[in-house]
Amino acid sequence: MQTTTAPVLVRIDASAQSPAHSISKQLAERFQQHWLKTHHNGEIIHHDLADMTLPYVDESFIEAMYTPKDKRTGEQQQKLALSDALVAELKRADALLISTPMYNFAIPACLKSYIDLVTRAGETFRYGEKGVEGLLSIKQTVVVMASGGDYTQEPASAMNHATPYLKTILGFNGLHETRFINAAGMNMGDAIHAKNLEQAQQQIDALFG
Ligand SMILES: Cc1cc2nc3c(=O)[nH]c(=O)nc-3n(C[C@H](O)[C@H](O)[C@H](O)COP(=O)(O)O)c2cc1C
Repeated sequence: MQTTTAPVLVRIDASAQSPAHSISKQLAERFQQHWLKTHHNGEIIHHDLADMTLPYVDESFIEAMYTPKDKRTGEQQQKLALSDALVAELKRADALLISTPMYNFAIPACLKSYIDLVTRAGETFRYGEKGVEGLLSIKQTVVVMASGGDYTQEPASAMNHATPYLKTILGFNGLHETRFINAAGMNMGDAIHAKNLEQAQQQIDALFG
């Protein structure tokens, strides 16, 4: 008998605001609802980073990370347990959805902490003779970003350090085809807010035909 594994969506939300107030989380929810309709028996692994208080990388984490797996002490294994678990989720994922606000022209600190925990030599990337090789392989990667201002056009786009950074780090880990959807100008008045939010919603809908 053929066994099939359920498709997995890993959803990471980074806004400090609750789902009731966060535009990026509401857009992520829209994506998730579409995804569930189009992926029978789909499994959602959802982390709202605002609820998690992720640890920063510290010296003992670095030492544990660079100790060969079979030589790690129990304490070192414990130190890496959360990171290992988050990496394992990404290795199971068929789709990755990151929703984030722009904070101070970059990403929120909680999302940077998440990235620091899941970017692991030998697990999500490795260096070889040809340079870096990303080891993650996820069929669909989508980033939904809400920002108060609009940095989608030049010259303002030079101030957006969030999108280029996410593109770089996702690519570094092997995810080269990320689709970025922007709800830009959310604080630029009602008319721009409504128009750009609707555009972002339509872009999400269009991903599902
Ligand atoms: C701490 C903080 C920093 C922010 N920094 C920026 C910024 O650099 N550029 C910008 O356009 N909007 C900035 N904003 C506005 C948010 O990006 C905007 O309100 C967005 O809708 C928040 O996403 P959310 O609704 O999902 O929480 C900032 C908001 C906060 C709370």
